[in-house]
Amino acid sequence: MNKSTIGHALTAHAKTVGDIDLADIARFDRFHVAEDGMLLDYSRHWIDEEIWQLLSQYADAADLSGARALLFAGGLVNKSEGRAALHPATRGSPGGDTSQQEIIRKQQTHMAQTIEDWHGRGICQVLHIGIGGSHLGPSLVVDALAKPEMAKRCRFLTSHDAAQRARLVDDLDLKTTAVVIVSKSFTTGETIENARLVRELYQHQNLDPSSYFYAVTAVPEKAQEWGIDQGHILSILPEIGGRYSLWSSVGITAAWAIGVKAFEQLRAGARAMDQHFLSRPWDQNMPVIMALLGIWYRNFLDQRAHIIAPYHDGLRLLPPFLQQLEMESNGKRVDQFGELLNHKTVPVLLGLPGTDCQHAFFQALHQGTDVIGVDFILTKTSTRALQAHGLAQGQALMVGHKDPDPERTCPGHRPSTTLVLDDLSPHHLGRLLALYEHKTFVQGVIWGVNSFDQMGVELGKRIARDLLERLEGADQLRTDDTHDRLDGSTAGLLRYLRKPSLS
Ligand code: F6P
Repeated sequence: MNKSTIGHALTAHAKTVGDIDLADIARFDRFHVAEDGMLLDYSRHWIDEEIWQLLSQYADAADLSGARALLFAGGLVNKSEGRAALHPATRGSPGGDTSQQEIIRKQQTHMAQTIEDWHGRGICQVLHIGIGGSHLGPSLVVDALAKPEMAKRCRFLTSHDAAQRARLVDDLDLKTTAVVIVSKSFTTGETIENARLVRELYQHQNLDPSSYFYAVTAVPEKAQEWGIDQGHILSILPEIGGRYSLWSSVGITAAWAIGVKAFEQLRAGARAMDQHFLSRPWDQNMPVIMALLGIWYRNFLDQRAHIIAPYHDGLRLLPPFLQQLEMESNGKRVDQFGELLNHKTVPVLLGLPGTDCQHAFFQALHQGTDVIGVDFILTKTSTRALQAHGLAQGQALMVGHKDPDPERTCPGHRPSTTLVLDDLSPHHLGRLLALYEHKTFVQGVIWGVNSFDQMGVELGKRIARDLLERLEGADQLRTDDTHDRLDGSTAGLLRYLRKPSLS
């Protein structure tokens, strides 16, 4: 059957999902996978055997096996930029040719040597300057795995916010701080401006920035031109996308904070998930299962949002990491050939750690008019109270509550996934992050989009450069601009922002 015939069959099934008895005792045995200290329970979903078979066939009709083989062969999966996506190779999985793999090995050795060097030089803090994919993964790993005293010594400077800069930089002893500018492109406005301002601080204290500053980038010549010593430049391959770059030298701050050995275990965990993704049939393949469920709800049941609820404080930075991973990868409206798609792509991802999320937006999940799926992420090592709450939410969504008072009635029959990790070790965190990477990849394949570019974020950056000039008053009288006429709303807002505030 081709994709569209399967799609029609799925559309027909979508009309009868209300009849599926989610509480059926046999469902857990059929719809769960457990492997290597990780359990995926997908029994609380609007699927039955027939729907699941159709979803699997949908993956086949999109040639998921072929696309997966291309990814791991280092093939051209990022067509708009003419590149492979080599993040699996950065954790020792297949991908890229032997010379690329050799380069990756050398880059990893350089990272380990740099960390060794920091220990020898008495570096006590790392100021990591970077944003987006050059920040979210490393800060998540530090938060999840570093001992508190080490986590405190890692500062992540991301935005143009002067208050953020003051909070993170003012109390630093610059003499014992390594400053790492992490930018694949080495052109990102926030990063380069923050780096410049921090360099000035060093200069004011008569410290030679070149001995403290490091760069991680895919364009070493730009870093050198900026003034970074050649030996302090850690390169990454252009084929490593920012949001997939944690495993490369971009992870240096995390590797310093948790130790190179633990960082290696993180990579090994991701490698184990690569192997799982490569080898398991679809109905035992965790990333494929999660991706297909997402497709089912998004494309056949019109679900617009998806929630990530990790019941472990160490995973509190997982939601923003996944927002970039999934929404920057698959927030696209044209296919790889530039043709407009006639189906929906990525839903909005939201998340907060449990139980905080219960006291924020869960009311809408239980009684709101929209049905919104949730990924509950639990660990066996979390407190029993936390586990109980995580389980309770999934159960409450599913079974609901009938009450004479409609305001107290919870309709139930609302779907969720539960993931249980044995613990939040480097190995399991690596597996978890790679699981979501591959889920994102599978969805991109089925949606027919390029998951490895992000053209949409450029427009705002370009406009901001122009508006900054206007806000700083360089050209107050201009009424049009080089790329577009200035619209009435922006002009009005600019005028208002320029006026001094009343307070
Ligand atoms: O937000 C757009 C983006 O290009 C992301 O894809 C990337 O992770 C981030 O900016 C930072 O980019 P760079 O590492 O080049 O500074």
